[in-house]
Amino acid sequence: MQIVRTSEELTRTRANLGPGTLALVPTMGALHAGHMALVEEAKRRADKVAATIFVNPTQFGANEDFGRYPRREADDARMLEDAGCDLLWMPSIPDVYPDGFATTVHVSGVTERWEGEARPGHFDGVATVVAKLLVSVRPDFALFGEKDFQQLVAIRRMVADLNIAAQILGVPTVREADGLALSSRNAYLSPDDRERAAALPRALEYARGTILDGTSVQLALDTGRKALVEGGFSRIDYFALVDATTLEPLETGSGTMRLIAAAVIGTTRLIDNIPV
Ligand code: PAJ
Repeated sequence: MQIVRTSEELTRTRANLGPGTLALVPTMGALHAGHMALVEEAKRRADKVAATIFVNPTQFGANEDFGRYPRREADDARMLEDAGCDLLWMPSIPDVYPDGFATTVHVSGVTERWEGEARPGHFDGVATVVAKLLVSVRPDFALFGEKDFQQLVAIRRMVADLNIAAQILGVPTVREADGLALSSRNAYLSPDDRERAAALPRALEYARGTILDGTSVQLALDTGRKALVEGGFSRIDYFALVDATTLEPLETGSGTMRLIAAAVIGTTRLIDNIPV
């Protein structure tokens, strides 16, 4: 696996990868089995696999965890190498945002609610950095987790709107045995909160079951929210049934749907979602 830092090194190494298709897995590092599922799917889809590790400052709010976000470059590089990754790009902040950088990519519509409302500016940061990564690496495929469902929808929109020649592939969420979605931020949970955090996927599963049984959507969502509070979550940012394409809330079940949730336990904000 070749490790590169600057855009110049990336361009040279990209050109020398040879013929065949390339799949890109963008990450912020602190890799876990969820990220590695993207790498495995990338290997199945393309001849060569590239990954990026960049803790992108512009997608963190002023009071968020940019400073304490876990950074484990050496371990991450070893995991990617063992998984058969061919190229790892780990740019510095000035490599991505050199002096004078003045462009923001804003995806409207699908970014406005949910995470967009709770984390103003977050999706501008994500869209801008992902656009830069895609334009720099020029992959045939780029893989993103369904774990961050709104992010996946926003990136699909951006790539379609800008005619970026990468096919976007979504990969199902990888979970712990008790259902908790793997996340680099799970490391912030105290042992007690870690145990209680499984109430989040359980509440989503419960709500899905009751919606599919024909119970009123409102009742299913209210019961799910109540289960979260009883399970130890102190704040619910949203717990909603949405159209899987537009992300608009649904009051009755129809079409392709997604249950999405964000809630705080202890000092940690967790997000999760499941198909319905
Ligand atoms: P990060 O949180 O590191 O996640 C990188 C990729 O891994 C994302 O596509 C995310 O959805 C996926 N992922 C995370 N946990 C997962 C799980 N349990 N199962 C399956 N996939 C999972 O998302 C980002 O970084 C950034 O916003 C990024 C796209 C890299 C732009 O900075």
